[in-house]
Amino acid sequence: FSLLFHHKYCPSLKIHTHIKHIILFLFIRVSAGEDVILNCEVEPDIDLTKKTVEWKYFDTSTKKELWVHMFRNGKDDPDSQDDKFKKRTFLFHDKLKEGNLSLKLLSVNLSDEGIYTCIVNNC
Ligand SMILES: *[C@@H]1O[C@H](CO)[C@@H](O)[C@H](O)[C@H]1NC(C)=O
Ligand SMILES: *[C@@H]1O[C@H](CO)[C@@H](O)[C@H](O)[C@H]1NC(C)=O
Repeated sequence: FSLLFHHKYCPSLKIHTHIKHIILFLFIRVSAGEDVILNCEVEPDIDLTKKTVEWKYFDTSTKKELWVHMFRNGKDDPDSQDDKFKKRTFLFHDKLKEGNLSLKLLSVNLSDEGIYTCIVNNC
């Protein structure tokens, strides 16, 4: 199955995506049980540890939007995260400083199918 992926960002920043296993530009092919990295980074490289970084998920079957991951005030905010994604998501904290907000999602399965969006706020 595949995960669709896109990004929102502040107009002053350009976001680059480098996605492995790309199909039709934004589809990532994954297999059940696999850990995936959704690549997202901003250019120019800005220190994202001082920004609010969010990942959202849109469930295309239920049409619901859920919080995948939230990073603000210099740390992850698990309280803002939907149960579906609890303990399954990781930002690469060492890479945030370089503008890389890629997300690791553990053990994907069919119920994770949908649209993932990376968002940088207050820039
Ligand atoms: C961003 O970080 C992820 C996770 O470490 C890595 O896979 C990806 O290659 C990085 N992107 C760049 C351009 O370094
Ligand atoms: C997918 O994983 C979730 C969380 O681990 C689990 O609750 C659900 O039953 C799994 N769904 C399928 C189709 O395997």
